[in-house]
Amino acid sequence: MNQSRILIAPSILAADFSRLAEEVRSAESAGADWLHLDVMDGHFVPNLSFGPDLVEAVRKVTRLPLDVHLMIEAPERTVREYAARGADSLTVHVEALLPVSRRVWRGRGWSVVRTAGNGRRLSRNLARLGETVRRSGCRLGLAVNPATPVALLEKGSPPLAGGVDLILVMSVWPGFGGQKFLRDALPRLRRARSLAAPGCFVQVDGGVSPATVGPCVRAGATVIVAGTSVFGLPDRARAVRDLRKAALASLGAEGRKQ
Ligand code: DX5
Ligand code: ZN
Repeated sequence: MNQSRILIAPSILAADFSRLAEEVRSAESAGADWLHLDVMDGHFVPNLSFGPDLVEAVRKVTRLPLDVHLMIEAPERTVREYAARGADSLTVHVEALLPVSRRVWRGRGWSVVRTAGNGRRLSRNLARLGETVRRSGCRLGLAVNPATPVALLEKGSPPLAGGVDLILVMSVWPGFGGQKFLRDALPRLRRARSLAAPGCFVQVDGGVSPATVGPCVRAGATVIVAGTSVFGLPDRARAVRDLRKAALASLGAEGRKQ
């Protein structure tokens, strides 16, 4: 697969849960590449969404790869379960890999700072988790909250960025759909792209629309998560097309070839 291809991953958080099967199918026939599933535990983030049962329910109605974003504490306890229920990618938060005593709740969510101690712990915890995730047949993703420096992913030996298949740069504080895109995400995406190993996906999540997707892909994003800008619109095919068109147009001639 051409790793520089732009993938569109609608987030079902913005879908109508009372008609979920229909909503999922509408995204699939609209040309979505992956489906993004936001798992929230009411602890790591202030909101509560759904768990493994819903992942399994979605698995039954689509063949799209399921990209599961775990906004949860202690992900090592449940990754196996999500894999068994049908996840294809499992993305955990770097902040959730450290004990609460090594994080700060800054504004609207957790963040961690870059220290040698944090680097060593993260490296150890990520390696352990990565082994479990990959043994279950899933891709491993690592998400970074808006106030956690992306440079943290340089830490560790080997560096954290080298041990994952996907880096997720949050462009809103996690927990809720429909928020405004944080422009600070752009230099963070560029940094993530420079740290990502060849073949590693760089994903952007939060407030992405045809108006904001261009700068994201120019900064290096290859997987575009979009909740409101797909499920918030009645014509899903048009929504996915508009996102893709805006993304590819911003890449110029190179993008138009895709
Ligand atoms: C936020 C979630 C996002 C959310 C995106 O915590 O991780 O995936 O669903 O929704 P929009 O695109 O509406 O910002
Ligand atoms: Zn998400």
